[in-house]
Amino acid sequence: MNVDGTPVTGDPAPGQCLRTWLRELGNTSVKKGCDAGDCGACSVLVDGRPVHSCVHPAVRAVGREVTTVRGLGTPEEPGPVQQRFLDAQGFQCGFCTAGYVVTASALAEPDGTVAREDLEATFKGNLCRCTGYRSIRDALAGKTNVSPCGGGRAFGRSTPAPAARRVVTGWEDYTLDLPLDGVLHLALLTSPHAHARVVRIDTARAAALPGVRLVLTHRDVPDVLYSTGRHASRLDDPDDTRMLDDVVRFCGQRVAAVVAESVAVAEHAVALLEVEYDVLPAVHDPEESRRPGSPLVHGEKSATRSRISEPARNVVAQTHGEVGDVAAGLASAAHRVSGTWRTGRVTHAALETHGARGWLDEDGRLVVRSSTQVPFLVRDELAHVLGLERDRVRVVTGRVGGGFGGKQEMVVEDLVALAVLRTGEPVQLELTREQQFTMVPGRHPMRVEVELGADADGVLTAMRLDVLSDTGAYGNHGPGVLFHGCHESVALYRCANKRLDAEAVYTHNVPSGAFRGYGLGQVVFAIESALDELAREVGLSPAEVRRRNVVRPGDDFVVNGAPDTDLVFGSYGLDQCLDLAEEALARGDGDPAPEGWLVGEGLAAAMIATIPPRGHHADATVACEPDGTVSIGVGTAEFGNGTATVHVQLVAEELGLDPARVRLHAGDTDAAAYDTGAYGSTGSVVAGSAVLAAARDLRRRLAAGEPPDADGRVVGRGEHHGSPRSVAFNVHGVRVALDPATGELRILRSVQAVDAGVVINPEQLRGQVEGGVAQGIGSALFEEVRLADGEVTTRSFRNYRVPQMGDLPETEVRYADTHDALGPHGAKSMSEAPYNPVAPAIANAVRDALGARPHELPMSRDRLWRLARNARSSTRSPQEDP
Ligand code: FES
Repeated sequence: MNVDGTPVTGDPAPGQCLRTWLRELGNTSVKKGCDAGDCGACSVLVDGRPVHSCVHPAVRAVGREVTTVRGLGTPEEPGPVQQRFLDAQGFQCGFCTAGYVVTASALAEPDGTVAREDLEATFKGNLCRCTGYRSIRDALAGKTNVSPCGGGRAFGRSTPAPAARRVVTGWEDYTLDLPLDGVLHLALLTSPHAHARVVRIDTARAAALPGVRLVLTHRDVPDVLYSTGRHASRLDDPDDTRMLDDVVRFCGQRVAAVVAESVAVAEHAVALLEVEYDVLPAVHDPEESRRPGSPLVHGEKSATRSRISEPARNVVAQTHGEVGDVAAGLASAAHRVSGTWRTGRVTHAALETHGARGWLDEDGRLVVRSSTQVPFLVRDELAHVLGLERDRVRVVTGRVGGGFGGKQEMVVEDLVALAVLRTGEPVQLELTREQQFTMVPGRHPMRVEVELGADADGVLTAMRLDVLSDTGAYGNHGPGVLFHGCHESVALYRCANKRLDAEAVYTHNVPSGAFRGYGLGQVVFAIESALDELAREVGLSPAEVRRRNVVRPGDDFVVNGAPDTDLVFGSYGLDQCLDLAEEALARGDGDPAPEGWLVGEGLAAAMIATIPPRGHHADATVACEPDGTVSIGVGTAEFGNGTATVHVQLVAEELGLDPARVRLHAGDTDAAAYDTGAYGSTGSVVAGSAVLAAARDLRRRLAAGEPPDADGRVVGRGEHHGSPRSVAFNVHGVRVALDPATGELRILRSVQAVDAGVVINPEQLRGQVEGGVAQGIGSALFEEVRLADGEVTTRSFRNYRVPQMGDLPETEVRYADTHDALGPHGAKSMSEAPYNPVAPAIANAVRDALGARPHELPMSRDRLWRLARNARSSTRSPQEDP
């Protein structure tokens, strides 16, 4: 075949798909997203026709012309479609971009635009998890969204991402975009049982298979307990996990690993492993899990040593407390509302699956290149688990293809590192999409009971919450998600009487973990729904009931105990956000409702701390290099959150440089002294503040005439410790139309007002907000990881619906005009927060349309149909009821 115009000869293996064939040839622009023809990240042209190369046999391309994104242009000379994606900045992580460019190129006009009525149907097979599709639509339409670089003016402008040219032409290296020569591959045997003891594993047949280099079982791994969840303090998460355990606690848990010369041999060997299990009773319902007599998930562990709140009751973390007198507040209330809300299990669906490759460097030091958001935290925990000194481990990232919190888990790096140490050779593990569903922690499902009391004016007199979170088989992020989810959602409202009882419990389900919003989305759904109901009782508009009750500068942030004194008002734009969202909805514009459908409007608010509690640290350097360029050394990783762009902009602005003269060295534990990592929306505020401080230090040194060091560099240093923390706000408003006969819901109008402080890069911020809203709409309406007796039954994008281009409305993004006293140049974080108010805003609009309130996420079509049917039958007289 010809690949990008070059003749290629070879011998694809029987059944080998075109994608793996091309990647083995070294063309890593062709991405692996799903293995099933669902996501489009692997799209190539075969004789000019777009195909999903993961389901296209390589032999069918023999004698044909194969075109990848690299055949359509170069970073120096991008092709017309690539230029459109550059001009519009039509990507965030960019893992989907090659597939879009390739597919679009088959349909594009000579100028690179795609003008089609059926755009949404045409790109149905190309998923994007980051952007919400607006910037991709802009690229296809030929819009220009970025400002040119240059002139020493970067701040506040939509300058392009530093890697943009390489991303749109397929030359930017993601985690496993490395040559494959001499690399061993690791494959996993996983548990078919939700709870079982491994009685016997016979590895003889697997180990004897030619090409197999290593078999690992629970007998071969360190006897060290740790957590896959990573935080600045490793004590935040319970030590309840062993690399490979002789007790399995969920369907899909790792049981054994095989390392072999190819993926095929490793998978064959896995099938030869013989395991005898003693199947044990399992519990899947979190309510049942904490009842006496329920099977215990970690009952044998020490509460103190493993930091599990009550192992004998399956409770990993809990908080119970009250301020004021809730009973009296409810008794004195003129209006009371209450209800119970439930949220489903959601997966991150980052298009790049978890993966890592490890090797030993020339000094024998362990190097792990990983898809992680937290390189330093993975380094530290690998050292802990493997008994190594920290300086004997280096963790690096390439560009990471989406994270959303999921890559704050260490789920592949440990086994890869152990295999490298045992074999002395490079080893890699790349999870399949099915393993992402069955093994990788997703969003915590929660049950949230809310009771509110208010006086005759709608001013809150009491708030009572009871929260139950399903942390699954392991407690990674279980305490953090519980406390954070309840913290800013409850602290958003001033009320003298508050009570919160919250517990996170173990079950024998796939573990839950960190996910955009970190629990806030679940609790905000319940509180904002209850508050909407209260507004109806009192006769107030949704915005007005919030104006009367939200915290204002000077207030304390109170949940169920002493005020959080580390949280301060560095700025305040919630009042503006409420006005902006209310005004946008009041304009009455948007799509028309289909005839006969019910129409309703809804609004919800959310607050988020701009930095996680208990410390988040970043060190950075900014150096004047001998060649006259300026380099940044920072530990945090870029995974589509725009951190790289922001850091370059901050330095360029401070030093009066063209951003093109600034080089970034990031996501590497050798690049900086320390960085807690990119989670909790800290990339701009914490790492950004450290970078800005380093740039200022460099400017001072240069002004003082400091001579270069032995390497010819002048180096500025900066740090930030993440305390005190400011708060940011989001208000989302929607108008929806609902067909009561079918349960179909359409969003006619969507607006989000955000208080992000001073905006560093408007286009990037808009992309983050739109991406968060898209994920909010997905989990509000479609997305649910389903389990049957603990076994995940939604194992592919074919039956787990990530929103497609046609599923999402355009969201108008409005900005409050604020300047934060704590953030760099007045900026605040805005990565996770846009997700949080979306589902309740939609639920409140459904309530407005239907007269009945949804209490469960996702509000899938069948659930809305039932809600509409029940609402109809409850308003009929018995004679009318069929
Ligand atoms: Fe599309 Fe990340 S930019 S998946």
